[in-house]
Amino acid sequence: MHVLDISWFTDSMREGRPVAVETRHLIQDTLPTLPEGSTPTPVATVSQYACQRRTTTENNNKILTDAFEVLAESYEFSEIEGPCLAFRRAASVLKSLPCEVRCLEDTQDLPCLGEHTKAVIEEILQYGRSFEVEKMLSDERYQTLKLFTSVFGVGPKTAERWYRRGLRSFSDILSEPSIQLNQMQQTGFLHYEDISRAVSKAEARALGNIIDEAVHTITSDAILALTGGFRRGKEFGHDVDFIVTTPELGREKSLLPDIIDELKEQGILLYCDYQASTFDIAKLPGYRFEAMDHFAKCFLILRLEGSKVEGGLNSAEEDNRSWRAVRVDLVSPPMDRYAFALLGWTGSRQFERDLRRYARLERRMLLDNHTLYDKTKKEFLAATTERDIFAHLGLEYIEPWQRNA
Ligand code: CTP
Ligand code: MN
Ligand code: MN
Repeated sequence: MHVLDISWFTDSMREGRPVAVETRHLIQDTLPTLPEGSTPTPVATVSQYACQRRTTTENNNKILTDAFEVLAESYEFSEIEGPCLAFRRAASVLKSLPCEVRCLEDTQDLPCLGEHTKAVIEEILQYGRSFEVEKMLSDERYQTLKLFTSVFGVGPKTAERWYRRGLRSFSDILSEPSIQLNQMQQTGFLHYEDISRAVSKAEARALGNIIDEAVHTITSDAILALTGGFRRGKEFGHDVDFIVTTPELGREKSLLPDIIDELKEQGILLYCDYQASTFDIAKLPGYRFEAMDHFAKCFLILRLEGSKVEGGLNSAEEDNRSWRAVRVDLVSPPMDRYAFALLGWTGSRQFERDLRRYARLERRMLLDNHTLYDKTKKEFLAATTERDIFAHLGLEYIEPWQRNA
């Protein structure tokens, strides 16, 4: 039970229904008073769930989180899930902190930090680096898998197969006659330099204009929204993600093929992997979370002219080409699934994982990119905005730029 401030009542009156309780609604005076002379323990504890933390792009513990991410990735390459997730969670907790960790005691009350993570922190605080991480960074297998998976279309499985065959470099792969690259990997190698260079905010904006124009030659009532890392306020990304739909239910099915045709006509479509919708409302809720949602989507590589980008392309200095290749993802959910798709595609990956984990473990609900299902009431919970979904989950609303977990 909470004792609430009048602001909860006025907020509820404004919304026309009881709103979810947020920290600002709690009466601070009702917190227990401390005996004289005692030091107050900090009230705000850090939640184990990323969806209950506010994480901006400002990371005060980059040295530590970079180290954790190397270790997480190395466990991922070895398909050892437990420690991989543990390091990802630990990195995510540290990213949410408003200041730098200066000594081990600073981490005392933090969740998700186990013995192994604390040992790495201690090493870095003491020596400025972690020997375990450095060993990994110079490990041949790690380096090779990292290199191979940096190619568009090459996942950990393929990378591992190539590594086992003794291949160590791109030229090893490209000169090996028995290796048949698929279309995606061929394009990946062809545009490797461009695609592995970060996409800037200005480039993302230019692509937004291009997609927007293409969409509006097709239909006047289309809805286009930036999502992914750029919606979270990141300065750079590995691609640009958009949601595109229309209020006319069913019309979204032909939207992506039409956009793709338009981009082709403009001569800027370098690669297109289109996946038609397999979304079936009768098959919801999905009890097993699948890595991919069922909406129509396409993974593209577009040719972006420098003249369309304010301040020019993000390219190497000696490079004076007039264009670059950029990865773009488009997803096209039916309008009544819009809020779930937007929440799911805004990320970050860790934030999404914890939203689903929180829903399942704390609320007995199932959340994915399509829907939210209450297992207790055995009903679907409707939402037209992200705020609705947070409210159903009893979570304080977290703005997109606070989801960089
Ligand atoms: N996503 C998804 N289903 C997919 C692909 C992506 O739900 N088939 C989600 C991811 O979980 C992520 C978001 O879409 O939350 C964006 O994915 P991605 O572009 O890979 O990552 P970003 O967070 O945008 O990071 P970056 O800036 O590197 O692109
Ligand atoms: Mn992205
Ligand atoms: Mn993407």
